Amino acid sequence: MAPLNSVPAVTVRAPAKVNLSLAVGPLRPDGYHELVTCFQAVDLVEQVTVRVADIDGCTVRGRHAEHVPTDAGNLAVRAVRALRDVARERGLPGADTPLAVDIVKSVPVAGGMAGGSADAAAALLAADQLLGLRLTREELHAIAATLGADVPFGLLGLTAIGRGRGDDLTPVLAGDHRLHWVFAVSGQGLSTPAVFRECDRLRGDTPVPDPDVPAGLVAALRGGDPHEIGPLLANDLTDAALSLQPSLADTLAVGRAAGALGAIVSGSGPTTAFLAADREGAIDVAVALTASKVAADVVRATGPAHGARVVEAPLDDTVA
Ligand code: C5P
Repeated sequence: MAPLNSVPAVTVRAPAKVNLSLAVGPLRPDGYHELVTCFQAVDLVEQVTVRVADIDGCTVRGRHAEHVPTDAGNLAVRAVRALRDVARERGLPGADTPLAVDIVKSVPVAGGMAGGSADAAAALLAADQLLGLRLTREELHAIAATLGADVPFGLLGLTAIGRGRGDDLTPVLAGDHRLHWVFAVSGQGLSTPAVFRECDRLRGDTPVPDPDVPAGLVAALRGGDPHEIGPLLANDLTDAALSLQPSLADTLAVGRAAGALGAIVSGSGPTTAFLAADREGAIDVAVALTASKVAADVVRATGPAHGARVVEAPLDDTVA
């Protein structure tokens, strides 16, 4: 049976993110940590097409595609299944139509950039349209939050403060200033739960203050001057990530020495993020990181970027 809106395929692009700040509070009974983070979406995008097929399936092409699962471990596949469940509950015609998910990756497969969360956000929006569900923003956001703490931000994009698990989002009106970022991708992975556990271990019995956004960061973002923003970048998971992967300290030092205005572990790492003054500054940092061989891959991007959006003219996979 054809999906309600009878379009054979919908393609959506969704962005990677960087955490400009990440304040980690106490461990909650649900196993998550109370946190306050400032996200910015950057213009490294994942492209996800959900299409009517003969059987359910998933393909992944582009950057580091070989490291991405194509089974139910893929967050985009789980997103499509979640929306198909909603379509079934609502008795929509087409709810049982087999769907294929085709992912074209540009975001490095590395912790800290939320490429998998971007895939899930894109797949949610694409499946919503394909199945003719027309969920509200709030409904999509609620389903996104069940898939991962960073998935709702993939839908929203731009710059936002995330509270709670990180999924209670408030947009930051940061204006139209472009920030120039460089990302150093580590050759070794880091498990997000392990980094949070290490943070708890390092803190021991020390009382944990309520998490907050660094004073002045939102005002600095509104002003858009990277010289003001750079020193305010902060991440409570830094010590934990460096404890588990000490070589990240060298990576941060190389970026700083090359003129980065701010150098941080992005999210739970191991990706590190460097804020540059402008495009030329970002090229200098990227060249230094590449030359020093401290990182497996070095990528430049700018932010803020839009959240998940339907695209009328999909890229072909050679662009990734
Ligand atoms: O929800 P997501 O899959 O992004 O989270 C991965 C893991 O990161 C969680 O299982 C948890 O161990 C840790 N986490 C946390 N507190 C948060 C977000 C994530 O402890 N606010």
